[in-house]
Amino acid sequence: MTEPTTDPARQDLDPIAHATAPTAATPFPQDRGCPYHPPAGYEPLRAGRPLSRVTLFDGRPVWAVTGHALARRLLADPRLSTDRTHPDFPVPAARFANVEQRRVALLGVDDPEHNVQRRMLIPSFSVKRIGALRPRIQETVDRLLDAMERQGPPAELVSAYALPVPSMVICALLGVPYADHEFFEECSQRLLRGPGAADVNRARDELEEYLGALIDRKRTEPGEGLLDELIHRDHPDGPVGREELISFAVILLIAGHETTANMISLGTFTLLRHPEQLAALRAGETTTTVVVEELLRFLSIAEGLQRLATEDMEVDGTTIRKGEGVVFSTSLINRDADVFPRAETLDWDRPARHHLAFGFGVHQCLGQNLARAELDIAMRTLFERLPNLRLAVPAQEIPHKPGDTIQGMLELPVAW
Ligand code: HEM
Repeated sequence: MTEPTTDPARQDLDPIAHATAPTAATPFPQDRGCPYHPPAGYEPLRAGRPLSRVTLFDGRPVWAVTGHALARRLLADPRLSTDRTHPDFPVPAARFANVEQRRVALLGVDDPEHNVQRRMLIPSFSVKRIGALRPRIQETVDRLLDAMERQGPPAELVSAYALPVPSMVICALLGVPYADHEFFEECSQRLLRGPGAADVNRARDELEEYLGALIDRKRTEPGEGLLDELIHRDHPDGPVGREELISFAVILLIAGHETTANMISLGTFTLLRHPEQLAALRAGETTTTVVVEELLRFLSIAEGLQRLATEDMEVDGTTIRKGEGVVFSTSLINRDADVFPRAETLDWDRPARHHLAFGFGVHQCLGQNLARAELDIAMRTLFERLPNLRLAVPAQEIPHKPGDTIQGMLELPVAW
């Protein structure tokens, strides 16, 4: 059953939250009215949990998974492919229309090839390796907050903090010069946001060219970082080819800064809009680790994971046919009331760790230990050092990313 909305923040930011829901196939994905709640237009999908028909931007009908148990089952099912080069792969927006021409490492590759790629990278993202990075993350966070304090309020938190924290960390981890951050951050914005398919393609070309040149340089001038390790270390599966190296670098660089940056900005905005929950954090009644996990569930910033059925599949009496697209609405899956009671409420007392904000199955987020460490350090230090942090303008005036895939704030003016 769908829970009624009791959150006043939702009602004032999202005037259509209670509009009558259409019964025809629901368009997917849709913009969020309120940046931290699923779109009001998804109400028919909640009612149809765990599986509904939705329509993509081009009118194509696909299946939308909205129930937690079914999502775990299907995300672990090898009959659902992530091979984005397949002509039938479901594309969530017009700007990704040329996606089939491009290979994406890891997230665009099925097993057994996927497993080979993942094995090469996984040691660099282990709990132990990421634990060793924590002092460096703390140092980065402290330096950025020093600069913000020196400058004095107000500040724009996305550019001053939320974006540079993960960007600096992923550069250090990969061995990409942070001095080039404006270039690759701008490229990844165009790659994710377009606006057109040509912009997405061009951005990918420019990023590949930049990373290809960097990789070539590293062959003769080795540095420190994961890319250097991949180039110079012996691997049980043989040397990593240039194209594959570039493809790893693209996905790690983009996934490594975009998602975490959005979590920091949207997480901060959400906390500032939930004074009671923030007060509990400030009073030490909960820990940042708990807060981060519940925010990951509540915000579900990576929305609409895509798959393609490679065989007919019986799913609880429904047949998903070979060639049909399947999308996973993480925002609804993580608010499945059977698994998360009072799912619409931000609640530090609930066990939230089994959320699917990082996906599930073989493609479950490779960077989740890194993301958790960054979020823990960045959120804790921000609210410790700036105990009077507040929004510098009314919430309704602050723009968020027009939502389909990755959610977040475009800007976050704050004062303290
Ligand atoms: C809070 C931040 C993050 C969120 C919410 C997030 C979310 C996700 C999700 C949902 C998936 C699975 C997509 C699917 O199954 O279709 C994924 C995969 C992935 N993520 Fe993250 N991610 C985050 C941070 C990171 C970071 C910091 C990295 C660093 C390198 C990273 C690298 C990756 C990679 C490489 C994959 C593909 C894994 C595979 O296919 O084996 N992510 N992420």
